[in-house]
Amino acid sequence: MRGGKTNIMPEQYRALQGFRDILPEEQVYWRFIEQAAAEVARLYGYQRIETPIVEDTAVFRRSSGEGTDIVEHEMYSFDDRADKEGHRQNISLRPEGTAGVVRAYLEHGMFKLPQPVKLYYMSLPMFRREKPQAGRYREHHQFGCEALGDGDPALDAEMIGLLHQIYTRLGLIQSLRVYINSIGDGNCRPQYIELLKDYYRPLLNDCCQDCQTRFNKNPLRLLDCKEPQDQPKIAAAPRITDHLCDPCKEHFTAVKRFLDFNGVAYEVDPLIVRGLDYYTRTVFEFTSKNDKVALNGGGRYDGMAEIFGGAHTPAIGFGLGIERVILELKRQNIVPPAAPAMQAFVVYFSKEPAFKDAVVQITAQLRHAGIKAEMSYGDRSRKAQMKQANASGAAFAVIIGEEELANGLVSVKHMLAEGMDIANKQVQIKREELIEYLQQHEK
Ligand code: HAM
Repeated sequence: MRGGKTNIMPEQYRALQGFRDILPEEQVYWRFIEQAAAEVARLYGYQRIETPIVEDTAVFRRSSGEGTDIVEHEMYSFDDRADKEGHRQNISLRPEGTAGVVRAYLEHGMFKLPQPVKLYYMSLPMFRREKPQAGRYREHHQFGCEALGDGDPALDAEMIGLLHQIYTRLGLIQSLRVYINSIGDGNCRPQYIELLKDYYRPLLNDCCQDCQTRFNKNPLRLLDCKEPQDQPKIAAAPRITDHLCDPCKEHFTAVKRFLDFNGVAYEVDPLIVRGLDYYTRTVFEFTSKNDKVALNGGGRYDGMAEIFGGAHTPAIGFGLGIERVILELKRQNIVPPAAPAMQAFVVYFSKEPAFKDAVVQITAQLRHAGIKAEMSYGDRSRKAQMKQANASGAAFAVIIGEEELANGLVSVKHMLAEGMDIANKQVQIKREELIEYLQQHEK
């Protein structure tokens, strides 16, 4: 910063609590994950989709479920401006990606395409007004996959295999655990829930406040309680995996068999119930071995299309929290490949306009030739420009001095030490030979 002034910014202009800027130095992590995820998704036949950041509130409310934390407490919902008839639509910032994709699948008649339709979304922002804490933000970003239109258990296993392959590419698979479960379907789950309620009824007075609410609103979530006092009750509760109907049992057995063929080591955790109401049968989470925090979560949602007026459409998907994966990469000291280095830094040693003209032109020519190049702005001193060239990490300084300008030449200084003979070597070449010279000596 120049001029010795400090920037004092009033609190009110800072980023909101739970919202973060993603600064340039973070971007290598984002590109690393995005590249691995997109490449693997394409290997499995997924095509990219983007849906709007806002939808009618009913899209999320009806699919995620009225009794869920997300719908009850965490959505950013507001009335839009009134239309000509004075009607105001209640709309919400997307808290999750699946509902929008199912809406788009139905709205665009994708059920007429060969099934399953395999879609992925990349780094889409999601908004949940949660209590901000490490790894939990009010805006987070998800890479997600959704396969719609087929109930084959091979698809469940393949999707978990796809995630496994992404984490393997990122070098993370050894630090993760894969948990799977089946939470049954409309046929067997209601009976299990009655069984669970029968079990909990005599214990309710001794349960935490939240569990007392869950008992009425969302009994499956009783199993997700984190209060220490309720853990022994959870441990002794009836297990859904012991109460699946035959078709669900068969489906789950096949998923496990196919997971073996996909080379995925997993654990069955009958306590995984997920925080959204739309799941049926297979659910899964990949968590860090360190703290059990989920890096991704997903499962089947065979009933969602019908909620939106579509035909029965079995489907499965997951969402991967990019910020959570970055935290895990950092924890494991995995450093993504660096962005391409600067090749050339063009400097000029006179304030005469002709020098600046030459530098602007040469820098543009280098960039047009695909060479990563930078120049010094603001007519700085010779010393300051060379300092900038050094700090940029450029392999070469391209120097325009008096002699060079007068004779159509440039001086090229090798900036990087790679054997004493070559570091700091300086050559004078014709201006029109510069691009070829840099390409030949590319670092
Ligand atoms: P979810 O488990 O709510 O599922 O979120 C997916 C992932 O997003 C989580 O595993 C976590 O990594 C990340 N995540 C969630 N909330 C936050 C937060 N507040 N801050 C940072 N990261 C967060 C879904 O959203 C489903 N739509 C997944 C799905 C797709 N199921 C079927 N298809």
